[in-house]
Amino acid sequence: MKVKLYTLIVSNYYLLGFMPLLNNPYALIATTDLSIQIIVLFFLLYGYLLKMQMKFRQHGIAMLVAVVLHLAMLFSIMIPAFVLGVVPRFIVPNVYGVASVVTLVMGVIGALAVSLGTWLVASWRFQDVAGCFKKKRIMLATMAMWLVSLSLGIVLYIILYWAVILS
Ligand code: HEM
Repeated sequence: MKVKLYTLIVSNYYLLGFMPLLNNPYALIATTDLSIQIIVLFFLLYGYLLKMQMKFRQHGIAMLVAVVLHLAMLFSIMIPAFVLGVVPRFIVPNVYGVASVVTLVMGVIGALAVSLGTWLVASWRFQDVAGCFKKKRIMLATMAMWLVSLSLGIVLYIILYWAVILS
């Protein structure tokens, strides 16, 4: 009985806490995007761990999943949000504003990272991993750029939606 009551209170508190998010479609879409990006981050770190354990094939597969998830979010959420929301609402009125600068830097670094990531997994195509060794430096640069763009994405989310969550 006590456990049931506790569960009810906690679940209500949880739902109420996220009510502003559920009522705001922009914040909801951005939160979905952020959650998937955190999963992408997990795959990147897990992929790196697999490489440390010399499991190169599994490393390639983890990176492939990260690339596919990232591309899905890019085309379904990020590009439409950039074109329809960020450009008219932030970049056009105030190109030197924090949100504009963070978005533009994130966009350039993120586009480079995901393009290189796509090329790395596409040029592998589940073949022998021997061909991957000579791309080690490109992989390191791709990973670094990817981590920077994911971090900037989290900063942008906080700038744009923290007030909505707290309201
Ligand atoms: C988005 C794609 C990828 C990223 C971000 C990535 C990232 C990395 C990173 C950060 C390293 C460590 C580099 C270093 O220690 O300097 C690495 C190593 C390695 N990766 Fe990837 N990788 C990707 C795709 C792939 C693919 C598709 C394969 C093919 C199976 C692969 C195979 C390897 C191998 C064999 C190494 C070891 C290289 C060495 O130690 O000489 N990677 N990768």
